[in-house]
Amino acid sequence: PAAPRINPSILSADFVNMQADLERIASADFVHVDVMDNHFVPNLTFGPQMVRRIQETSPVPLDVHLMISDADRWAPGYAELGAASVTFHLEAAHDPIGLARRLRAIGARAGVALKPGTGAERLYEHLHEFDQILVMTVEPGFGGQSFMPETMPKLRALSDEARRVGAAVWFQVDGGISETTISRAAEAGADTFVAGSAVFGAPDVDVAIADLRALAAE
Ligand code: DX5
Ligand code: ZN
Repeated sequence: PAAPRINPSILSADFVNMQADLERIASADFVHVDVMDNHFVPNLTFGPQMVRRIQETSPVPLDVHLMISDADRWAPGYAELGAASVTFHLEAAHDPIGLARRLRAIGARAGVALKPGTGAERLYEHLHEFDQILVMTVEPGFGGQSFMPETMPKLRALSDEARRVGAAVWFQVDGGISETTISRAAEAGADTFVAGSAVFGAPDVDVAIADLRALAAE
C-alpha cells in the first residue's frame, strides 16, 4: 500500500502566526483546513478570503474540510482558488454526486465527510464518484476531542467495499488521531490521517509527523 498521508489540521495552529505555522508543517503531505460556519457546527473559523491566502502561502497542498451548510453553493469556490482537495459533509449537500462531479471538473479531488452518527449506505453505489471519504472520528466542530472507536466498523465496511469494487478512493479519519489511536484507524482501512493537537501540540512537529506516519504504516 501507499505510504500513509499525514495532514496536520491548522485548527490547532496559531491564527495570528499562520504563515509561521504553515512553514512548520512542510514535511506533511497536505495541510488540513477546517472551514466552519457557526451553523453546520457550533464554531466559526474562516472563509474563502483566508483560505486563498493559506493557498498562496502553504508549502504543501491544501486539504479543505468544509463544515458548512449549503455546501453545493460554497464548495466549488474552494476548488477554484486552488485547493488540492475539497471535502463537504454528506449531511450538508443537496446533490452530493453532482457536487463531487463539479469539484472534479474544476480540478480538485472530491471528498465527502460523514459525521459519527451518519450511515455510509448512500455512498456504496457511488464510491467511484469520490476521491476521498472522510470518516469523522469525533463530532465535528472542535479540536482536542477524544477518538470515537465506534466509528471504526463504518470505516472498515467502506474500505472493504472500495477494495471489492476497485474504487481508488482514499480513506481519511479526523478527530482524536494521536500516537495512541492512529493504529486502530489504519487497521480499519484509513490511509490519510488528520491530526491537529497531536501535531501542533508536540514539542517537535517534524518528529510528530514522522512518528504518526511510521505508526500508521506498521
Ligand atoms: C474537528 C476538525 C478537526 C480537528 C481535529 O471538527 O475537523 O480537523 O482540527 O483536531 P484534533 O486532531 O485535535 O482532534
Ligand atoms: Zn477537519
